[in-house]
Amino acid sequence: MAELLYEGKAKQVYLTDKDDEYLIHYKDDATAGNGVKHDQFEGKGVLNNTISCIIFDMLEEAGIKTHMIKKLNERDILVKKVDIFPLEVIIRNITTGSFCKRLGAPEGVVLEEPIFEISYKNDDYGDPLINEDHAVALKLCTREEYNFIKQETLKINELLKEFFLSLNLKLVDFKIEFGKTPDGEILLADEISPDSCRLWDVETNQKYDKDVFRQDIGDLIETYKAVLARMQK
Ligand code: C5P
Repeated sequence: MAELLYEGKAKQVYLTDKDDEYLIHYKDDATAGNGVKHDQFEGKGVLNNTISCIIFDMLEEAGIKTHMIKKLNERDILVKKVDIFPLEVIIRNITTGSFCKRLGAPEGVVLEEPIFEISYKNDDYGDPLINEDHAVALKLCTREEYNFIKQETLKINELLKEFFLSLNLKLVDFKIEFGKTPDGEILLADEISPDSCRLWDVETNQKYDKDVFRQDIGDLIETYKAVLARMQK
């Protein structure tokens, strides 16, 4: 059995027999509110791995460098070894979620320009929203790395928006993570799935993402299956 390096809320990371590769295993757990709400949904890990692999392949083809090496099976992928920047990198195209809660802003407003946000990935402090100077001062990344991550994220947003629009889904907002290889290359890492994106149907605004679990407004597995079905059409 491979050695477990790290266990997150929805995934595990294992060492492999190669120094520069990790194996990521998708679990069936779903959490919300920094782990306050927790449940398991049989098959969620398979759905997220499948959806995320399709998206990472699309982004690679469009020239975005990612950690992805290959999908091994339904729940496991082989990735390049990176040190994850302790940053949650968020783009908002339409207002909702913590943006509206924090600022009292109205819900569902299409923003003229995407909003770029970073949070310090730290459960003890509740993943606080920070800015570029905070990230540099806390040595979470250098200013150059911050600039690269921001530019790359804006490109990823354009690619994802177009991709989801072709599935009749609006990309409301999303969270991504980046990592650095031992030789200093910055790669898109972690996952992109309905756990980490908000997706609304173009016509009805029906939610096709983890908000169905966060807000108890639908069946998570049926919702994620519907996203995958649109991708496989
Ligand atoms: O909650 P909030 O509005 O800040 O979330 C913005 C986006 O980031 C949403 O798409 C949400 O799914 C994602 N997110 C995430 N993991 C977190 C926090 C937010 O995937 N820990």
